[in-house]
Amino acid sequence: MKKLHFNAHLLIGGLIMVLLIILFLDMYFFSLEKMPALPDNPLYKNSQTPVEDRITDLMSYMTLDEKIGQMALVEKGSVSDLEDVNTYAFGAILSGSGSKPEKNTFEGWRMMVQEFTSTSRASRLGIPILYGVDAIHGHSNVPGATLFPHSIGLGASGNESLVYEVAQATGKELIATGITWSYSPTLDMPEDIRWGRTYESFSDDPVLVGRLGVAYVQGMHSATGQDSSKVLATAKHYLGLGGMQWNTSSSKDYFIDQGVTPPDETKLRTTYLAPFTEVISAGVHTVMVGLNSWGSTKLAAERYLLTDLLKSELGFEGFLVSDWYGVYEIPGSDYRAAITAIRAGVDMVMLPFDYKPFIYNVRNAVLRKEIPIERIDDAVRRILRVKFTMGLFDTMQIPQPLSDEDLFEHKTLARQAVRESLVLLKDPQGLLPLHSNSSTTIRITGSAADNIGRQAGAWTIEWQGVDGNWIPGATSILQGLRGVAGPNVTFEYSQSGTYDETSPVDIGIAIVGERPYAEGWGDNTNPSLSDEDVRAIANLQKVCKRIIVILVTGRPLLITDAIDDWDAVVVAWLPGSEGAGVADVLYGVQPFTGSLPLPWPAHIGQLPIVDGKTKDGTSPLFPRYFGLR
Ligand code: BGC
Repeated sequence: MKKLHFNAHLLIGGLIMVLLIILFLDMYFFSLEKMPALPDNPLYKNSQTPVEDRITDLMSYMTLDEKIGQMALVEKGSVSDLEDVNTYAFGAILSGSGSKPEKNTFEGWRMMVQEFTSTSRASRLGIPILYGVDAIHGHSNVPGATLFPHSIGLGASGNESLVYEVAQATGKELIATGITWSYSPTLDMPEDIRWGRTYESFSDDPVLVGRLGVAYVQGMHSATGQDSSKVLATAKHYLGLGGMQWNTSSSKDYFIDQGVTPPDETKLRTTYLAPFTEVISAGVHTVMVGLNSWGSTKLAAERYLLTDLLKSELGFEGFLVSDWYGVYEIPGSDYRAAITAIRAGVDMVMLPFDYKPFIYNVRNAVLRKEIPIERIDDAVRRILRVKFTMGLFDTMQIPQPLSDEDLFEHKTLARQAVRESLVLLKDPQGLLPLHSNSSTTIRITGSAADNIGRQAGAWTIEWQGVDGNWIPGATSILQGLRGVAGPNVTFEYSQSGTYDETSPVDIGIAIVGERPYAEGWGDNTNPSLSDEDVRAIANLQKVCKRIIVILVTGRPLLITDAIDDWDAVVVAWLPGSEGAGVADVLYGVQPFTGSLPLPWPAHIGQLPIVDGKTKDGTSPLFPRYFGLR
């Protein structure tokens, strides 16, 4: 027995030794990979040389490891040693939403990004990194940046030149901190408003999404002058996320986000693909692959959609980036998942956690010929093409701080965007616009009346958003009303609607809505007003003869049972930092011009609403493009 014990130990010890030797030899032989010599003045550094020749020249000096490094998009929080940027030659770094520098200011960002960028430029080949963030409604990780309305509000404006300017201003705020890549615009087309990402989309209409998507891409690409490097837009999420079915999520915490899109070839062509086709013709350089499944296959493994359709048929020459951990959602080991995704057509892999195993796995897969080297070369060529085309190699990228004038201009633009995003759903007595020439008292209530965090929604400083009024330079809707209405109007404010019931006033405004949420955490079986807001409205009705309800929300809410009791209704979506834009339209500085970018359901049984048609065949409460003028 004792002897047997001893032998077992010996055997295990021996096995471990053998494994270690294999590992060591593997790493040793890999490190012997020949590093091609680099001449003093390589062709790729000459900006006069045609881009494809520059790429060919640069690739001739790259080791396999350096190529794989270009395919890695690494979350900044996982970089344990700054030198890894150099050692592994990362293609790009990202800050996931809420992943900020120690000092979360424009200056703090500029310093952090600069550190990563200059480290990449000091590497052997000096290939600059891209630095990416989700600037989906402005440079919204930074307190003090302009927070534009979320996309659903821009969709309600239907205004391409506005969207162009919004994207351009966003790009300017990004480049002032050295950021060269934004994971926007979102081209999803939600059919089911229970989805927690409804507000990230412009509309469910592929024509409108295509139009605004093109405007956004062109605006962002023109953020800097023609001679300097660009800020890249990203068309996301490819493909068909708006068509995901309720209760199909692959995440145990979600209902529909990261769910299944039924593979329907007709809808693929007529709906899902349409806006992508438009933005590709408009020159978008990067496309993000969604976290959904196409039938039973995760999108990142869908060779037909990624390679045959997007790259071969549509001629997309930029690069495909996978979404947050998306590659590892593919069933199987991390090794197998990376092989499947890269073979399917993913060019750059988003790596939120650990980049070393990725590099190791891909290297082994190439050495074992499980990923053809031609596929690696194709991915790297695509990534480098974008970097050369942007002019990244040819500028030193010392970001200039944003001037106060620029910031002021952007806030003025954001206020205009808010005005154009508002949709008037009901006002039979003509309560709006309000008048400020005679002395009046207006009572205000509701969870979103005086809360910038709520009106900004998620993807604001934190992934899931913030609460309260501490964001510098922003204006709540109540503050906006006070500023716009002038001295004749007194606003009394009680969040809960508690007022002296013995002295009713003529008009009350309830500013109510949703708490911020992002992604699947916002999947909601029954999107409607909170009990707290319902009570506040009821209280207000007791002390005001007529009430105006303003909905601050990322999606249509189920209000069928209540709307008859409200005298006027306005949808403000998630307006962002400029609450005064809401006040402007309430006070007639500008008329209502917005219209619903998607149908407003009357009840849950109508979902999903596909191309305006409800599931149960009944009419929605309001159809797409409804909006009183
Ligand atoms: C989201 C993407 C986003 C990425 C990076 C993911 O969770 O699905 O839309 O671009 O995170 O923050």
